[in-house]
Amino acid sequence: MSVGKRRIMDLNKDSKIYIAGHRGMVGSAILRKFQKEGYSNLIYKTSSELDLIRQNEVENFFEREKPDFVINAAAKVGGIVANNTYPAEFIYQNLMISTNLIHSCYLFGVKKLINLGSSCIYPKNAPNPLKEEYLLSSEFEKTNEAYALSKATAIKLCEFYNREYGTNYISLMPPNLFGENDNFNMQTAHLLPMLLRRFHLAKLYENNDIDGIKNDFSKNPLGWNLDEKISNTPISELLKKIGIEKGKVTVWGDGSVYRELMYSNDVADACLYFLKNIDAKDINNFVNITSGKDIQVKNIVQIVKNIVGYQGEIVYDKTKPNGVQRKLMDATRLNSLDWKPKISLESAIEDFYKIYLSL
Ligand SMILES: NC(=O)c1ccc[n+]([C@@H]2O[C@H](COP(=O)([O-])OP(=O)(O)OC[C@H]3O[C@@H](n4cnc5c(N)ncnc54)[C@H](OP(=O)(O)O)[C@@H]3O)[C@@H](O)[C@H]2O)c1
Repeated sequence: MSVGKRRIMDLNKDSKIYIAGHRGMVGSAILRKFQKEGYSNLIYKTSSELDLIRQNEVENFFEREKPDFVINAAAKVGGIVANNTYPAEFIYQNLMISTNLIHSCYLFGVKKLINLGSSCIYPKNAPNPLKEEYLLSSEFEKTNEAYALSKATAIKLCEFYNREYGTNYISLMPPNLFGENDNFNMQTAHLLPMLLRRFHLAKLYENNDIDGIKNDFSKNPLGWNLDEKISNTPISELLKKIGIEKGKVTVWGDGSVYRELMYSNDVADACLYFLKNIDAKDINNFVNITSGKDIQVKNIVQIVKNIVGYQGEIVYDKTKPNGVQRKLMDATRLNSLDWKPKISLESAIEDFYKIYLSL
């Protein structure tokens, strides 16, 4: 095949689909979804088998495998502290991963690419709800500027390749996600896994289930340099450091801010739907993947508390930062496409808790 010539074919159960980042939280949900739906020609590699930062490795891989469709769920991802401390790593790795993937899709005739971004691409001061046209309209939030810039660049790369080469590369922007293979490190976890583990540990403590607590500590790191101290520090002290006392859980901030949370399985469902049904021209290259609704943190806290079955008190530490007031994405463009998230927050958290308990 000549360079850049796209193979024309529709998605079918034998299509060769490369899922980049298949071991991550989002990539693993995509892999499970496609396997469940009977797609039988899926290809995936760990980062040690194929380092997407290395252009030659990526081009050789595409030349050898010639995938028909590609989903990019590979990225260097981290919390505010990591983003703020290592901006060079975040921008370098994410730019290299997306540039190598997008250019190889072009060189080796990939029919369609789904490129995953995130709501952090929107400017710090953009009004809510966040519309797709606000991309690059003003400055990013400083703490994750490097990550946001690399993600916004990937969207623009897809758009420019579509414009110049007639490719079909779609970028999807989901909100904060949670799901299987999530990070439960109490120092670096996102809101939901953090709350879930905290209430779970608080319930065990309420029930004096010390073996249960030790078992939990052995499965996931606590962070905050606590892991090396576990054997010689009283459990009460370790728990206090992560906001748990007998009958009392402390949550950072006052609970008044709003967040949109989505289950990773819903994003996987969107990836399949878009790969099958939507072209870049239908969405002006990219679209928010959103329910269009958010929820106050104190209500999320209450849902998690009820699902875990913790009976004690909740205290809000108002001296700690709340984070941004709201970051709700606009659903207008998505609503014209006949796809909606299907899993309610309550049932997603119930499912997520079962997964956590089975670890
Ligand atoms: N997590 C969220 O809340 C969220 C929200 C919105 C959007 N997203 C987007 O979803 C995507 C995936 O995020 P995630 O949370 O699933 O991240 P994750 O759990 O950290 O997984 C990232 C994956 O990327 C792979 N990877 C990283 N560097 C690589 C490299 N140099 N070469 C090959 N593979 C590499 C890793 O592969 P190995 O495991 O093999 O090392 C890992 O499996 C990102 O684009 C992110 O922006 C995430």
